[in-house]
Amino acid sequence: MKKFVDIAHVSEHIGEEISIRGWLYNRTPKGKLVFLIIRDGTGFMQAIVTENDVPKETFALAERLKQETSLILTGKIRADKRAPGGYEMDVKSIDVIHEPIEEYPISLKPHGIDFLLSHRHLHLRSRRPFAIMRIRHTVVTAIREFFDSRGFLLLDAPILTPTACEGTTTLFEVPYFHTQAYLSQSGQLYAEAGAIAFGKVYTFGPTFRAEKSKTRRHLTEFWQIEPELAFATLDDIMELAEDLVVHIVERVLTKCQNELTLLERNIKPLEDIKKPFPRISYTEAVSLIQKEFTDFTWGDDFGAPHETYLSQQFTRPVIVHRYPAKVKAFYMKRDPDNPELALAMDVLAPEGYGEIIGGSERESDYVTLIQRLKEFNLPREPFEWYLDLRKYGSVPHSGFGLGLERTLAWICGLHHVRETIPFPRTIDRIYP
Ligand code: 4AD
Ligand code: MG
Repeated sequence: MKKFVDIAHVSEHIGEEISIRGWLYNRTPKGKLVFLIIRDGTGFMQAIVTENDVPKETFALAERLKQETSLILTGKIRADKRAPGGYEMDVKSIDVIHEPIEEYPISLKPHGIDFLLSHRHLHLRSRRPFAIMRIRHTVVTAIREFFDSRGFLLLDAPILTPTACEGTTTLFEVPYFHTQAYLSQSGQLYAEAGAIAFGKVYTFGPTFRAEKSKTRRHLTEFWQIEPELAFATLDDIMELAEDLVVHIVERVLTKCQNELTLLERNIKPLEDIKKPFPRISYTEAVSLIQKEFTDFTWGDDFGAPHETYLSQQFTRPVIVHRYPAKVKAFYMKRDPDNPELALAMDVLAPEGYGEIIGGSERESDYVTLIQRLKEFNLPREPFEWYLDLRKYGSVPHSGFGLGLERTLAWICGLHHVRETIPFPRTIDRIYP
């Protein structure tokens, strides 16, 4: 009888004979030894086949095993500081489950990212996506923990929607029986209904933007976490956003040291992510930006280079608040002290990563909101239900959206968001 153990748990079985079920990641023959790297989804481990210790057939088999052969390796576990991961197996027997029909297309030599993403269904087996997806999992768990422990209700927003939330230029249209629907750009409007029903809610789901821009920050399908709170103000959500980001980074640092090492992420800047985050107004941000971009004028929206520059000025995430209303969405409440400004805030991640969170206090007055829809050229009819929220027991309320992939790109120290999601969707990629 074989005793199956996950690679993640081999450290508990030193000196024991165990079996690992997995796939051959790499093979290096060295004279009378063959070094195998096996992966089983929980980790990667080195296993050594020694000519003098195994039957002739076993050694011959080890010498010709192909990459991504699925197999069972059986042998004794030994702690070895030199081994990647710290443990090794001295192989006694090899049972092949399936031998690849053709040579595996992803060898261990470097490939271009386009090639790898076109083979993403296989590429996910490699070390780098392994580390990133584990960190993604940890971040998702941390976010759920954070909101659940603070009494928020998880409210799933619909994906097929009758309206735009974040402007009409990035809508994906979907034929919907006798009418037209859109893929949701944000769960926010529904989260607002939820906040009035349940007090504190968060949505957690995919959102869609027909982004025609090819930048390192844009996907057409990305995941958003959107808390929404009744009776909360702009100050309340700035604090909530700060707490959330601190919690996420702390969890990743505690749980994902190996993954961060594998990605060669310098963790120093992450260790500095503590409260309080600097908070500056849009107007203050503009004076900083104008030092570098002399043609930038008050009232312009920040582009990627401006955000990058701004976020490089601080070692912690910076919260920028009170943007010109005209560059922000129709639902944002205006600043009573200056109606040209929206009570909006963005959190910009350091090291040049830029916006990871966008949020605001919401317009909660019925008549004003009707006026805003007009100003933004939005039809009233599909928003009737949203206006209803201001008709019956309207209260001040606020919320924000955190982009999961942008947060991950920053935490993992990646150049592009496309590596942070299992199957990225961009303007020129829908396969596989
Ligand atoms: O700033 P955004 O557009 O805000 C909203 O959608 C609000 N309705 C959220 C709310 O208040 N409930 O998007 C929120 C976040 C951004 O800060 C960014 O992290 C991410 O979503 N994001 C994208 N991530 C990847 N690709 C894209 N095309 C993204 N667009 C936004
Ligand atoms: Mg935004």
